Amino acid sequence: MLGIIGGTGLTQLANLKITRRQLIRTPYGEPSGPLTFGELGGKSVVFLARHGSGHTIPPHGVNYRANLWALHSEGVRDIVAVATVGGIHADLGPGTIALPDQIIDYTHGRKNTYYDDVDKPVIHIDFTEPYCPRLRGLCLQASRQSGEPLIDGGVYAAMQGPRLETAAEINKLERDGATMVGMTGMPEAVLARELEISYAAICPVVNHAAGRGSSAHGIRYEEIGAVLDQTMERVRNLIEQVVMN
Ligand code: HPA
Repeated sequence: MLGIIGGTGLTQLANLKITRRQLIRTPYGEPSGPLTFGELGGKSVVFLARHGSGHTIPPHGVNYRANLWALHSEGVRDIVAVATVGGIHADLGPGTIALPDQIIDYTHGRKNTYYDDVDKPVIHIDFTEPYCPRLRGLCLQASRQSGEPLIDGGVYAAMQGPRLETAAEINKLERDGATMVGMTGMPEAVLARELEISYAAICPVVNHAAGRGSSAHGIRYEEIGAVLDQTMERVRNLIEQVVMN
């Protein structure tokens, strides 16, 4: 069963035939909301809204461990996550959709491992390739089939937020090799890896990163809203095609 984690702008899937909702308790506390089970094109999927159904949980307040644990406990072994980003690279303008292949983690103070028991052996999980190549391949195939362009590859900078970045911070991220910036990519990706869940992220670009494009005059959230609505429609098409495959 495929799990879908929806981010900003994707709190539900329009064409999902919902069969049940279930709030799962985990040893790590409560997930962002109930899991929504349903069918999409005849296939079983389970959906979780990362920021809660009313979009009230900020990126640093998401209980990532509970979210991943809940999905895993229901048998989810593949997750496609949707996470909006600001575009740093010139190719990643508002309205484009990226499929990153690398991450740099700049977050802090988040519970980012299941291996924090003092009386258990220390485990260092391999994270050379943070995103699953097979799932990424399915997303690229879905892009070709649905005609929704997806930019293959890119480096996701996971920032702590909730504020947006300064122009100098974006310049630094670019020097580090980042091509897009968001706030929720980590620790979600690594926790999936620790649970041996295959994970890929689809990243709709909703604004130029700070100091890039017309955002040299600041990032206006009203403008983001319009891009978000249009782009999410296309993300939904992509996801439906991924499920079909
Ligand atoms: N910065 C960080 N996170 C984001 C942005 C951004 O510009 N846009 C959407 N999520």
